[in-house]
Amino acid sequence: MVSQQELREQCKDLHDQAEQTRLAQALIKGNVPAKVYKQMLWQLYQIADIIERKWPFEVSDLDRRQQLALDIAHCGLGEVSTLASTSAYCAELNNLTQDQLRGHIYVHYMGWLYGGQLLKKASKHPVNHLEFQDRKACVDYIRTRILVDLTDADSLAAQRAFQTIMEIYNELY
Ligand code: HEM
Repeated sequence: MVSQQELREQCKDLHDQAEQTRLAQALIKGNVPAKVYKQMLWQLYQIADIIERKWPFEVSDLDRRQQLALDIAHCGLGEVSTLASTSAYCAELNNLTQDQLRGHIYVHYMGWLYGGQLLKKASKHPVNHLEFQDRKACVDYIRTRILVDLTDADSLAAQRAFQTIMEIYNELY
């Protein structure tokens, strides 16, 4: 068994590395170019789409897919395309059972619920995907309903998700 505290510790170095990527630094400073931001949203949309199809959350506030679509629509003109790193990750996600998604949900959804809350203040671009009606209820749902009975496999999945998001970030910017 792996506790949430252990999961956090096992991912800490990767979280710190993700924070140091060029894109994360630009998100913190609020100076991501509009084209890059729209591309990023499209990559995140595809990830959320697979996760939310496989794991329909009982808390609708957690549905990020439609918020991401809204943000993309509000980004203005500009083509988006699927990056190689995103395609590879989506193929991996598509092959997982619902049960194997815990680590991935942890990384992406807690990322939006925690770090994302700092980033939205600095952003000059649409941030609906970082707005929650009841953030605490979303965190509680993830912690009490999804991040339960964790094993080493979930921790490895979370580490894999962090590695992949860094690949996507590096391909984006
Ligand atoms: C862009 C810069 C980022 C900043 C400023 C940031 C900041 C934070 C902060 C302040 C917390 C809560 C404090 C804590 O529990 O230590 C947090 C937690 C978290 N962040 Fe980030 N973060 C960033 C990027 C990311 C990225 C790219 C991801 C993954 C996609 C991510 C995933 C997480 C997760 C999963 C947690 C929950 C940790 C836990 O409580 O177990 N963060 N982040």
